[in-house]
Amino acid sequence: MPKPDHASSLGEYHIGDSIRLLNGKLGRRLSGKVQLILTSPPFPLNNKKSYGNLTGELYRDWFVSLADIFAELLTPDGSIVIELGNSWIPGRPVQSLLHLESLIGFVNAPNADLRLCQQFICYNPARIPSPAQWVTIQRIRATDSYTNVWWIAKSDNPKADNTKVLRPYSKSMKSLLRRRSYNSGRRPSEHIISADGFLTDHGGSIPHNVFEMEPIAGTDDTRLPNAFRIANTNSNDYFTRMCREKGIAPHPARMPPGLASFFIQFLTDPGDIVLDPFSGSNTTGYVAELLNRKWVSIEKLQRYSEQARIRLEDPMLAKAQE
Ligand SMILES: C[S@@+](CC[C@H](N)C(=O)[O-])C[C@H]1O[C@@H](n2cnc3c(N)ncnc32)[C@H](O)[C@@H]1O
Repeated sequence: MPKPDHASSLGEYHIGDSIRLLNGKLGRRLSGKVQLILTSPPFPLNNKKSYGNLTGELYRDWFVSLADIFAELLTPDGSIVIELGNSWIPGRPVQSLLHLESLIGFVNAPNADLRLCQQFICYNPARIPSPAQWVTIQRIRATDSYTNVWWIAKSDNPKADNTKVLRPYSKSMKSLLRRRSYNSGRRPSEHIISADGFLTDHGGSIPHNVFEMEPIAGTDDTRLPNAFRIANTNSNDYFTRMCREKGIAPHPARMPPGLASFFIQFLTDPGDIVLDPFSGSNTTGYVAELLNRKWVSIEKLQRYSEQARIRLEDPMLAKAQE
């Protein structure tokens, strides 16, 4: 069995190529046992980022080749959640279809029997305007401000429970629950609103498939699902503070911890196994640990190991396990 680079009581972080490791002993050990594969794979970027990316058809073929490997690892009611940004055609103000071709190839891989359960959008109002040439210099495109999040599974009914990931009620809904009255009847949209259908307090409202990440000013009521709150995303949290103290450059493409928290709570139970085959700074493993799920993370580059270790030293983890 490959020895992890480091581990905790719930999880292990491996250094290596995930396809090689998942086709080997580690994959055989996990076969049919993973409840959730949650990952942001390397993006098909125009400019090579420091962690290296494939481009074009090579990227698509590589991405599609993951379908069989991932499907083999899942429990029958397990899920795959993939976060991927948009890509642009080099030198042109034209969006690439590569991420969509990759998704379609992945879901249609003949032996994997996968389907897209739902697409989510992770909208980040604080995103730096890009692609810079077209957005800030020539001013002919709008800021590319969201990532695609695809929830894929082997069955039409993977384990899922949206009551675990409710959003806070809106101000008007809260006052309606206090008042215990509202205007029922037919709406212009033809919907018929029952006399007491909205008077039960379910502890929050049903989550949407668009996540508006925290605004910079922090004044707007974005009503992200409560599950986002468990993982502190501000720049003073333990991870960024310790990276700064130790002179480590934090991973340039970290997944928002709240996003990991949402899908782990939505799609798994405590004790289930969560796998991130492209784990970088190990946001997924950290949040899984926080939520008492087992986890396995794989990262190709040794240089991210130290910051992944920092995550596991976070005092919040010790508190969560008390
Ligand atoms: C978008 S980043 C993931 C960041 C991570 N979610 C986090 O929060 O830090 C993708 C990561 O996949 C790694 N990677 C790329 N190809 C890989 C491979 N074949 N096997 C394992 N890791 C790989 C890259 O080095 C990079 O750290």
